[in-house]
Amino acid sequence: MARAQIIQFPKILDPRGNLSFFENNDQIPFAIKRIYWIYDVPGGEVRGSHAFKESEELIIALSGSFDVVLHDGKKEFKYNLNRSYSGLYVPNMLWRRLDNFSTNSLALIVSSISFDEKDYIRNFDDFKKYSNEIK
Ligand code: TYD
Repeated sequence: MARAQIIQFPKILDPRGNLSFFENNDQIPFAIKRIYWIYDVPGGEVRGSHAFKESEELIIALSGSFDVVLHDGKKEFKYNLNRSYSGLYVPNMLWRRLDNFSTNSLALIVSSISFDEKDYIRNFDDFKKYSNEIK
């Protein structure tokens, strides 16, 4: 399985304001199928406690900051995202939770598949079981 990792995007510095970008299969390791974003998160709320069977994602803090907590069934890894010029690549089959959102934070999430509820594993025990089965 590919590993979760922080990806730095190109940064075009400009006195008029900076610009960053990524493209399909370039800068990021998959073809983009869908983009969604999470915003107006009340203080203390948690999003996305689930895993995906197939979908890979790239998560970017376009504004503000939040934590992405990943669990591979054995260990937990925490990433604090707070820069608009880098993102966290999250391969499939990792339990993932987003929390500790700052005021006015904006989470942009790029996915490798169209929305499909069947791709979700929403129960942590099911995730651990399925994770062991496919190893
Ligand atoms: P969900 O992924 O469960 O959000 P979270 O895990 O952060 O709580 O999505 C919440 C709801 O939004 C769920 O009913 C499915 C719907 N949804 C879509 O219709 N399309 C999408 O692309 C996404 C991500 C969610």
